[in-house]
Amino acid sequence: MLELRSRGLRVGTLEDIETRGRRTLVRVDINVPMKGGRVIDDSRIKAHAATLRLLAESGALVAVIAHQGRPGGEDFETLEAHARALEAATGLPVTYVPDIIGPAAAEAVKALEPGELLLLENTRFLAEDNIEGPPELLLRTHLVRRLSRLFEVYVGDAFATAHRAQPSVAGLPLAMPAVAGKVMESELRAAEKLLSANTSYFVGGSKLNDVAKVAPGLASKGVIMTGGLSALLFAKAMGQDLGRAEEALRKVVGPEALELARAAVSKGKVLVPLDYVVEEKGEIKVVSANELSTQPKDVGPATVEAYRDVMESSGAVLFKGTAGIVEDPRFRRGTVALLEAALSSGAFVIVGGGHVGASLAWVRDELRSMVGYVSTAGGALLYMAAGLPLPGVEALAESYRKFLGGTA
Ligand code: 3PG
Repeated sequence: MLELRSRGLRVGTLEDIETRGRRTLVRVDINVPMKGGRVIDDSRIKAHAATLRLLAESGALVAVIAHQGRPGGEDFETLEAHARALEAATGLPVTYVPDIIGPAAAEAVKALEPGELLLLENTRFLAEDNIEGPPELLLRTHLVRRLSRLFEVYVGDAFATAHRAQPSVAGLPLAMPAVAGKVMESELRAAEKLLSANTSYFVGGSKLNDVAKVAPGLASKGVIMTGGLSALLFAKAMGQDLGRAEEALRKVVGPEALELARAAVSKGKVLVPLDYVVEEKGEIKVVSANELSTQPKDVGPATVEAYRDVMESSGAVLFKGTAGIVEDPRFRRGTVALLEAALSSGAFVIVGGGHVGASLAWVRDELRSMVGYVSTAGGALLYMAAGLPLPGVEALAESYRKFLGGTA
């Protein structure tokens, strides 16, 4: 059993349940960066290998579910490529089944043998797994009703999706005995231990609705340094003129996110970049924040120095998301310099989110080994730090109480 003191929750672990010979459904987060249908960073896939191997070796009959991307997104893909990557990571045979709750999935599950893995289709191909809702609604979904009949045990290993109240994450544990897998367990243990006092937060990336949601909570705990598209949201909330850069912001956030950003700014602990790297008419240059007139591609050197000062007086730094478009080598300097500043500051550094994890590869060798903890999660880690609900974890706690005799 894992006790989460910060949340007053108890969650069962693999030690609390018999899986030998039992049909076991494992929810992982292998939502990875993809290009042209190919997986371009398999770190999340590798992270889940331990849970899956442990289950397969202990004689469980294992099927895996996961999502990839969001409907309409360029990376909204099938899980066929993930099956090959999972096979390489686990060393076990993986059968990809292009079905989730239909007859093909049911037949494949019934025919499961120990020592092999089934990977069902992207759960977000079902409209239901794109909605978030309260327990009653999640329990009514076809996904929960059908899959809970096919399996005897649920293993929640998708910490990186635990902030979504979606059926495959927060509904299934309410319908059957469920425990945390190895990734979920180690992420929760680390987050409990590490997100203590005197933490500052670098928040970059482009999932602005999540960033806005966590910002007021984080700003009451420590300084928030912003980068990437997130920086524009807070600069706007401070009343800065963004010129044409505002168009990018308008496409992804509404008035509600701006209100939350304003609430965070009012606590006086949000920092926005002093300068940016922009590309104009083919020329790459550094401009100060008040000269910004186009969407920035990175943060500039003055910003790195200002943020370095904050990191040097912090006990821990949570680094989520990137400061620029790191896929393009011309715009990764800010992210790498900030990571290096964090790693040489003496603070405990927690890195979360796919692209920033990958950016560690460009950090100087002698600094890379100074990372305190690399999380598979971005948004979920911020929700944890900000004290916001994690429905995927709460559902595991409820399942422990309801089906496994645990106490609240
Ligand atoms: C993530 O990458 O943060 C998780 O996989 C959740 O994905 P989502 O933001 O599309 O829900």
